Amino acid sequence: MKDKWAGVVGALVIAGSASAAGDPEKGRAVFVEREQGHCVLCHSAPGVAAAGNVGPSLAGVGARYKPEEIRARVADITKINPAAAMPAFHRTTELQRVAPAYSGKPILTEKQLDDVVAWLTTLK
Ligand code: HEC
Repeated sequence: MKDKWAGVVGALVIAGSASAAGDPEKGRAVFVEREQGHCVLCHSAPGVAAAGNVGPSLAGVGARYKPEEIRARVADITKINPAAAMPAFHRTTELQRVAPAYSGKPILTEKQLDDVVAWLTTLK
């Protein structure tokens, strides 16, 4: 019994920290699929055929940054570089001229953000 609860507590702790709960397989899908992040419009990454070059290649990004640093950049890169030509994928405040259906909704859900960060973390 003790072990069972240890697992639950561990999962809660992980859920509260940056990205450790993400699924890299699903994260890759977030990266490539149009209905999700469609990050390939602007980025290349190892093992991904389609690739844009508006943004930097994400090869080695998992070695350059800690998971929480990757997460911060995907969630809202304008906090790091206000001039960055990359959408803020997980910002719900300060959005302007948003259709009511999308008001207050980030482009990526918390889970999708966790997953894509988990995948990017594997790019070393
Ligand atoms: C419209 C183009 C565009 C899209 C779409 C886009 N990015 Fe970016 N991304 C950029 C640009 C441009 C930069 C460099 C920003 C800067 O100049 O500071 C960047 C930077 C980054 C960085 C930091 C890289 C580094 O080495 O500093 C990460 C991580 C990243 N993007 C991940 C993503 C992910 C994940 C997605 C999809 C959810 C995504 N990007 C979608 C344009 C884009």
